[in-house]
Amino acid sequence: VILGEVHEVTAALGAALASEGYRVRQVVPGEAVRQVSADRYEANLSAADQLRQLHELLAGPDGSPVGGVLNFLGLGQPFARPGCDDEVAPWKLCEWTFNTVKELEEDLRASAQEGGGWFVNFTALDGKFGLDGAEAPALAAAGTLGITKTLGRENPRVRVKNIDADRSLEPHVLVSRLIQELIAGDDLVEVGLTRHGRWRLHLHRDPVQTAGWPLPVDADSVVLLTGGAYGVTAAAAKGLAVHKPRLILVGRSASPGPEDSQTRGLDAADLRKRLIELARARGERVVPAEIERTMNRLLKDREIRANLIACQAAGAKVEYHALDVRNAGAFGQLLDDVYQRFGRLDGVIHGAGIIEDMRIRDKTPESFAKVFRTKVNSALTLANKLRPDSLKFLVFFASVSGRFGNTGQVDYSAANEFLNKLACSLNRQWPGRVVSINWGPWDGGMISDELRRLYASAGFQLIPLDEGVAALLAEIGLPRRQSPEVVISCSVEQMSRWGVKV
Ligand SMILES: NC(=O)c1ccc[n+]([C@@H]2O[C@H](COP(=O)([O-])OP(=O)(O)OC[C@H]3O[C@@H](n4cnc5c(N)ncnc54)[C@H](OP(=O)(O)O)[C@@H]3O)[C@@H](O)[C@H]2O)c1
Repeated sequence: VILGEVHEVTAALGAALASEGYRVRQVVPGEAVRQVSADRYEANLSAADQLRQLHELLAGPDGSPVGGVLNFLGLGQPFARPGCDDEVAPWKLCEWTFNTVKELEEDLRASAQEGGGWFVNFTALDGKFGLDGAEAPALAAAGTLGITKTLGRENPRVRVKNIDADRSLEPHVLVSRLIQELIAGDDLVEVGLTRHGRWRLHLHRDPVQTAGWPLPVDADSVVLLTGGAYGVTAAAAKGLAVHKPRLILVGRSASPGPEDSQTRGLDAADLRKRLIELARARGERVVPAEIERTMNRLLKDREIRANLIACQAAGAKVEYHALDVRNAGAFGQLLDDVYQRFGRLDGVIHGAGIIEDMRIRDKTPESFAKVFRTKVNSALTLANKLRPDSLKFLVFFASVSGRFGNTGQVDYSAANEFLNKLACSLNRQWPGRVVSINWGPWDGGMISDELRRLYASAGFQLIPLDEGVAALLAEIGLPRRQSPEVVISCSVEQMSRWGVKV
């Protein structure tokens, strides 16, 4: 199956495969499921029911499984036309790719047993996966890289490959290079095609230097941290607070007032008991899930309160704003307001993120959208609203899940890959430093006790909070033009091999 618009490249590749005896079908995004010609279909790739119908049509009367998918959605131009705002294209390309992968995953797995089963994803960032700086509309496809890598993690026998082509390659050259990649028979997951040949990504070991470059933060600075009141980004806020800047912290949680005297000072076990007692005293039925929810809320509020106090105690001027960064209007307004009130925004750390881990086959499009948009829509609002001339640094908190793919994290992996490539693009254009840090697991934040046990049993080390913060500050201090996409982790080699959580 060739997925994407009909153009010179898809037509030539389809013809080449057909001449080798493959049954080639092209699927073009459209409004309704329909067969356009003997070997071409249209479907609305946002609609699960249409994808099911399409799947039946592709299987034909003999019910043959799909043996391979060549995803050209990222090479099309449907989003370059006026009227499509920035958020639409990255989301649509991931939604369509994810829905198709989910519908055809079982076929690919079955075909892999018979020697087929490949998923090849094409992008045209710059032939180097954006490291030379891709621009819209090509950049919009960056999230699909993460979907491909996670598909491979969840289905080790399915052969996955991301191929990123330099846009200036002539179509006939591109077609022959793509064919070479399809028959290469290697297990490379990321291959770039440039005018100078085949290009590969290597992780380059680069010890964190925690001394040498001055941190561009002082008592006059204004720094915004999304997610900065809670989790590992709050540790970053506390690390910055000692330099006494003005910190603007953002999260969805309402600003917590003082804790009720009925629960104040109780540890988790006593808190649970007290909440049960209080529910009974009110004559309410005790619902354990409700008690857990209330308890978690109280514990989270305590941590937020303590973090805000710690930042102030260190000398920072602190304000907390309760808003959802997916809401471009509200988030954009906050950014405008900061510029209006202070006339500057020196640095931003974008740490807001969520996980809702599920394998591709169980993941709903709604959950995918929630995880993806939390990171991506907000990053695009930042890209649109920040004033690069006065911005000294912008840091995206990404994850090794973006770099390596990760079982159960198709949406998170896609979102983090988008941040990586956006950072590459902005770092080229903006005078300040833009970096996307692919963190390995920290000893804090979204790491659950269950994951902690899993890592301990596998011998993986977690990043201690103070070391993570020191590494972050070192990255912020580096001059622009240093690598815009980095991995910071303990046990990197094990991770890339095993594709563990986060
Ligand atoms: N912890 C790790 O090991 C690890 C590893 C790799 C990468 N990271 C990345 O580091 C960042 C922080 O992770 P964490 O472990 O600290 O997670 P966490 O403990 O769950 O904290 C997430 C933070 O993001 C905020 N947030 C989530 N959705 C938001 C939204 N829509 N609008 C505004 N704020 C939102 C949360 O505040 P509210 O709940 O109040 O909204 C919270 O402050 C994430 O981007 C994550 O992907 C973490």
